[in-house]
Amino acid sequence: MLNDKTLLMDKLVSLCKRRGFVFPDSEIYGGLANTWDFGPLGVELKNNIKKAWWQRMVQKREEVVGIDTAIIMNPKIWEASGHLQNFTEPLQECKSCHTRFRQDYLEEGKYGKIIKKDGKIRCPLCGGELAPAKQFNLLVKSFLGPVEDTAHQVFLRGETAQGIFVNFKNILNSSRKKIPFGIAQIGKSFRNEITPGNFIFRTREFEQMELEYFVSPQEDEKWYHYWLKERLQWYLDLGMKKVNIRLHPHSKEDLAHYAKACADVEYNFPFALSPKGEGWNELEGIANRTDYDLKRHQQYSGQDMTYFDEETKKKYFPFVIEPSAGVERTMLAFLLNAYSEEDTPQGPRVVLHLHPLLAPIKVAVLPLLKNNKELVTLAHKIFRVLQQHFPADYDIVGSIGRRYRRQDEVGTPWCVTVDHQSLEDKTVTIRDRDTMKQVRIKINNTTDWIEERLH
Ligand code: GAP
Repeated sequence: MLNDKTLLMDKLVSLCKRRGFVFPDSEIYGGLANTWDFGPLGVELKNNIKKAWWQRMVQKREEVVGIDTAIIMNPKIWEASGHLQNFTEPLQECKSCHTRFRQDYLEEGKYGKIIKKDGKIRCPLCGGELAPAKQFNLLVKSFLGPVEDTAHQVFLRGETAQGIFVNFKNILNSSRKKIPFGIAQIGKSFRNEITPGNFIFRTREFEQMELEYFVSPQEDEKWYHYWLKERLQWYLDLGMKKVNIRLHPHSKEDLAHYAKACADVEYNFPFALSPKGEGWNELEGIANRTDYDLKRHQQYSGQDMTYFDEETKKKYFPFVIEPSAGVERTMLAFLLNAYSEEDTPQGPRVVLHLHPLLAPIKVAVLPLLKNNKELVTLAHKIFRVLQQHFPADYDIVGSIGRRYRRQDEVGTPWCVTVDHQSLEDKTVTIRDRDTMKQVRIKINNTTDWIEERLH
């Protein structure tokens, strides 16, 4: 059944809506294309991904610090970074219906059958004549203040990285870090994408998790390879299956305007974006940005953006290695990686085999019978204790089998069941989501038992 990749996406999108992971945005007004809201379980999963990233990339490292910079910054930043000039896609507009199309997609026939007249490609929607290609900038524009003129025009940030570069000196002066060191940021970015889609894979508003790691120019290749390995390992440690993930180096032609080298961590998604129709697509980019950004900010701001090496007494522009991942895209990959349909002796079940650290709910407490007052009271008491330590759920609706299924479907790793024996000897059973096996433990030990397994 799951061999059908389109079906897998449909099933996942439907599960996400039904169980409160992801809702279409502004749904009561007919929605806003390719815009999504994150429900109670979605916000937990997203937060768990961000927490796992922050702990590994910032809190557990000596040489990395965090930052949280503004979304709307001085527009000169985007001039200096090269985004105003280079962050563009070539688009062709139909002279009749005024729809805009990506030039490369028109040529690849991605909008359906290619319509041609006198050897020229025509509008795939109405057959109208297409104007010559124009560069379309992806930065989202807005205005600050009451006047909507170019003097008041601002941009929503297209990447979180620039907020880090412009604070390079502030961090150096306040934290006294020595090279190699990193500055990390998690936050929203905005891009006026021409071809958003595939659920939460590509949207116009999304969150990024970015690290700018400053190194000596002589050591850039060493650190570039270090971060390739380290980033791949992060996904594997959180339960990503090796078969679903790979590193894919960019060819020289595919490099961004600022990069000397770049490789993507790719996931084998159940949809194709490349002309070859493969599912392998970018999950995260790891780039060697050289000294491009610091040099450009020095040039445009007139401020010294160099690093002073205390030992050699020399000033220089550090090189930057940048691992940059999208939160929603990572969430989609972890959900797809975890989704499974299984036959069990009790019938079929859908399970999200999410790593316990990522699972939105860690434990559910279920009284065996909902109309036994003693069982319900004890179960609720246990739930209230566990809830102080972990995101927990309490469910009394339906048969015990159905309640297990409901928890399996949202990836809850453990279900605590309160039965008649619990009343006699103060024990409960804990059911493991993946093996469906149960162990019996003392009620007083439940918190510790779960705590020990949450690493
Ligand atoms: N600072 C470098 C940078 O922004 P990027 O490859 O353009 O590089 C990094 O973006 C990551 O951000 C991507 O690998 C992807 O996970 C995420 N991302 C980029 N554009 C996105 C979009 N429109 N929707 C969702 N995620 C996106």
